[in-house]
Amino acid sequence: MSSHLPRGPHKFPALLELGVNALIKDYPVHWLKRDVRGLAERLRDRQSVNIDSERRTSIEYSARDVLAYIVSRFPSTFGAVTTALQHVWLDDAQFAPKQVLDFGAGTGAGTLSVLSRLFPQSFWIDHDDRGDVVDFNGFSKVPPEHIPRLVQIEPNKHMQSAARFFASFLRFPDSMMPLQSTSLSGAVGSAIAPSDLSICSYVLNELSSQDEVKSVISDVLGNTTKYAVFIEPGTPGGFSSIRQLRDDPSFRAMGFVAVAPCPRSQLTCPMGSGSWCHFSTRLERPMVQRRFKEDFSRSLEDERLSFVVMKKEISLTEDALDVPRILGPPLKRSGHVVLDLCHPKGGIQRQIFSRSSVEDGAYRYARKSKWGDPMPFFFPVSSVPSKLEVDRARSEAEVDEEPESH
Ligand SMILES: C[S@@+](CC[C@H](N)C(=O)[O-])C[C@H]1O[C@@H](n2cnc3c(N)ncnc32)[C@H](O)[C@@H]1O
Repeated sequence: MSSHLPRGPHKFPALLELGVNALIKDYPVHWLKRDVRGLAERLRDRQSVNIDSERRTSIEYSARDVLAYIVSRFPSTFGAVTTALQHVWLDDAQFAPKQVLDFGAGTGAGTLSVLSRLFPQSFWIDHDDRGDVVDFNGFSKVPPEHIPRLVQIEPNKHMQSAARFFASFLRFPDSMMPLQSTSLSGAVGSAIAPSDLSICSYVLNELSSQDEVKSVISDVLGNTTKYAVFIEPGTPGGFSSIRQLRDDPSFRAMGFVAVAPCPRSQLTCPMGSGSWCHFSTRLERPMVQRRFKEDFSRSLEDERLSFVVMKKEISLTEDALDVPRILGPPLKRSGHVVLDLCHPKGGIQRQIFSRSSVEDGAYRYARKSKWGDPMPFFFPVSSVPSKLEVDRARSEAEVDEEPESH
């Protein structure tokens, strides 16, 4: 395993953008812009309310909030899920899920992201010579037996109906329509078999208490037979839920180990207090998002995420992917690259890959590396972890794309 993760920026599928436009077409633009601003403020305020605070309530979405979510957040959460899911297929390139659980599905970002990976051709649109949309097949021509069963757990009826709208818009055959329920133990709960791929994106940070967070995590893991992917905003609050679940011995006792972005034998997260493990994914902003979110002129957006891929029943001797992961943007300088690495056994280490001191392949790999990539070339470290904390204040623009000067 020596490959870099696919490079961005991610594109929101044009067919989904067509669906978003169809959904909002009768809604006054100025109302929607106001609702987008209101929702953004509520989500921003949430970052400053600690999960143990009595002021904390769960975030509720009205019908109008759901439209605001669709034009402003849905393309970004879709991109974040797509980024996190790359790590599932990096772990097992042949993985073909039989059943996908999208827990706290909202408008279906998790479900749709999996489908766009498995059936990219179903998201294509035919255009005429002038660039106008002629037609699309969606899923009408995909044999249903090739498609995983889809389960969406979502308590909010407006979110549920938006997810159904997208499924119909993409021409899901009846047999493919997601099974929707308000909870795993809800009306149809007893009929839901465990899934081999579960996704829980942007849910934990919107719950009202630690107990609720723990219960959602248990529900998701308890209904997963292989991979469970949790994604949260890349903030201290978002990371704290991710860390809580990856380090909790009770979840390990259920047979789960974190396999990404962490090296798998790193049983306890080595990130120091005051730092938070997060990643950045670059997204092409679809026109609909640019119209309704601030700053029309910006064509790209950097979405920060904290995430973990938990895998069930792996043995720790299975070491194919047990290589360091790159934390923070690589610092690329003339003749050398500085990487902060989360090591399988050695905590977080800063290592310098210079043209003169490491083998060619390692230097070239480091040169092309990016935040979140595995690092198969590294120097073994002693068992004493460095106290180094990743310096988040570095200018990312400066470090990410600096060209090599000769
Ligand atoms: C921010 S939205 C995320 C939607 C979607 N997963 C995404 O990534 O775009 C959070 C969703 O979690 C749902 N939710 C809240 N509490 C939940 C619970 N206890 N069980 C399942 N879903 C819940 C909300 O109704 C909302 O749709």
